[in-house]
Amino acid sequence: MLPTSLVFAAVSGLVLGSPFSRSLQVHESRSSIPSGYSLSGPAPANSVLKLRIALVQNDLDGLVNVLQEVSDPTNANYGNHLSKSEVETYVSPTSDSVSAVNTWLSENGLTPSVLSPAGDWLGVEVTVNQANSLFGADYSIFEHSVTGLQTVRTLSYSVPNDLAEYINLVHPTISFPNPYGNAPNLFASKSRRSTPSAERRSSAETAASPCGTGTPGITPACLQYLYGIPSAPATSPYSSLAVTEYEYEWASYADLETFLQDYRPDMNPSTTFTVQSVDNGTDSQSPGDAGLEALMREQNLDIQYTVGLATDIPVTMVTVGGDDFLQSLLDTALFLLNEPNPPQVVSTSYGDDEYLVSEKMANTICNTYAQLGARGVSLIFSSGDGGVSGNHFSECTTFIPTFPSTCPYITTVGATTIVDDETAVDFSGGGFSNYFPRPYYQDGAVAEYLIFLGDNNTGLYNASGRGYPDVAAYGVNFDIVIDTYTAEVSGTSCSAPTFASIIALLNDQLLAAHRPVLGFLNPLLYASGNEAFKDITTGNNRACTNNTGFDATIGWDPVTGLGTPKFSGLQLANGL
Ligand SMILES: *[C@@H]1O[C@H](CO)[C@@H](O)[C@H](O)[C@H]1NC(C)=O
Ligand SMILES: *[C@@H]1O[C@H](CO)[C@@H](O)[C@H](O)[C@H]1NC(C)=O
Ligand SMILES: *[C@@H]1O[C@H](CO)[C@@H](O)[C@H](O)[C@H]1NC(C)=O
Ligand SMILES: *[C@@H]1O[C@H](CO)[C@@H](O)[C@H](O)[C@H]1NC(C)=O
Repeated sequence: MLPTSLVFAAVSGLVLGSPFSRSLQVHESRSSIPSGYSLSGPAPANSVLKLRIALVQNDLDGLVNVLQEVSDPTNANYGNHLSKSEVETYVSPTSDSVSAVNTWLSENGLTPSVLSPAGDWLGVEVTVNQANSLFGADYSIFEHSVTGLQTVRTLSYSVPNDLAEYINLVHPTISFPNPYGNAPNLFASKSRRSTPSAERRSSAETAASPCGTGTPGITPACLQYLYGIPSAPATSPYSSLAVTEYEYEWASYADLETFLQDYRPDMNPSTTFTVQSVDNGTDSQSPGDAGLEALMREQNLDIQYTVGLATDIPVTMVTVGGDDFLQSLLDTALFLLNEPNPPQVVSTSYGDDEYLVSEKMANTICNTYAQLGARGVSLIFSSGDGGVSGNHFSECTTFIPTFPSTCPYITTVGATTIVDDETAVDFSGGGFSNYFPRPYYQDGAVAEYLIFLGDNNTGLYNASGRGYPDVAAYGVNFDIVIDTYTAEVSGTSCSAPTFASIIALLNDQLLAAHRPVLGFLNPLLYASGNEAFKDITTGNNRACTNNTGFDATIGWDPVTGLGTPKFSGLQLANGL
């Protein structure tokens, strides 16, 4: 069960105990082993760790200021997104960091590789013994009692005193992998083997509303009807939309074709998607193996509801390999930052519990999202499927925020369902960050909610943290085609691609009007008010001990955010 990054091999030519050893100071630490894990012994001394070192960037504050300027509709620079090289001038490491850290590594016989376009990430391969001595660490094997997952981590690491101002962080160190994985839950309890597609089509056509009657499966036609999403094809040749996939899963071309035939008979059924692989991510099209169905649901959902809603907008699936989710998130962002024209909208439905991620790592990944936002990319993430209890439902006595949902530079999407009217669904992830303070664009909305909340939940959440989600969309009983049959799936991972498709269609209209795309959305969304969102005021995400959690209410709430999108209101908010 040891991760593949821990290769058992002898590394020759490395001397233990450098003659230049410097005095160290603790850089990051964890006060205790994350719950569920226990120490099972020291990591083998000669096994090799692939460590990444992030260098301090030269002007992160400047980047964040520029992001605010280009994404705040009241600013004169709104929409003036930055080029690749303009972003790199802010985030390239200071020359002092580069030379100080390289000198230290070379004193220790190490030659780092440069891992990012801006040069702010270095990679080194060291033995556990050497890592322990270089970083004053204690790399050990930790085992998760329920899943048996083993991981090599340390509860603390240090850097030389004189380098502390140059080194941002080292990974993997104190961030622990999520023992339950990072894929969304995608509840599929109502999954069914269905009637042949012709029958499905005719029954859909005879239904009074495109959403059918009773407790129907949600379809593209239903979402178009509910949110006013146009079915007309996109017109700009420059529009783009991407979905990111992790954990060795893939989407089926054949299933997409069946889906379009069934649910978008007005579209060309051979409309397809392109694939980009990062870190050897897979795009296998292996024929139906029942055991693989569960793995394919997420990808088929993402692809079918982006291709099927963002009519004729080119969709890319970015499939990312590797067994370290945080590294995969980082590599996805670095890959996108390296593109001269990154996709304008990126939807991601994978997540983690914030406390498993080190605070510096969370900040660093989040800062790559600020860079993408400055480039004009709208990043859409699902808010997690465990209500206030984390990425998945789990036992909790205090609320567990999810990451990247809590990053203030992305748009986080919660979920609703239909009970008479649209209402919050209990699994909709929401709450407040323990790492990221409340961003300026949320001040009014969140302060109002906290007044409504009063003393409820005191001590269970962090009132000064960034609140999430920002918005919501339907997330229950989406029809997807999988292995030629339909299944109904539910989760915030239904909501994220739905919202992303709406943003991609708005971008297309902006491009057709020779205007800049939306980029980082939140300052605009929080300023656009009731015309752009349907306020969701019922339901809750109570999932912790004693039925604690948050209730949806008038205005922003940590269950459904600002509410669900109204396409025509969003057009108005953008002067379209
Ligand atoms: C991808 O695969 C190639 C060829 O097998 C290998 O050399 C490389 O290290 C892999 N990259 C990653 C990030 O796993
Ligand atoms: C749950 O409620 C009971 C009864 O009010 C209380 O004694 C207990 O401490 C609560 N548990 C938690 C974890 O808040
Ligand atoms: C609460 O959030 C603030 C702002 O992000 C942070 O500084 C503080 O450490 C957090 N408190 C706890 C107990 O996590
Ligand atoms: C506070 O909690 C009580 C008990 O769960 C609940 O009845 C009430 O609606 C909550 N109020 C708010 C504002 O969340």
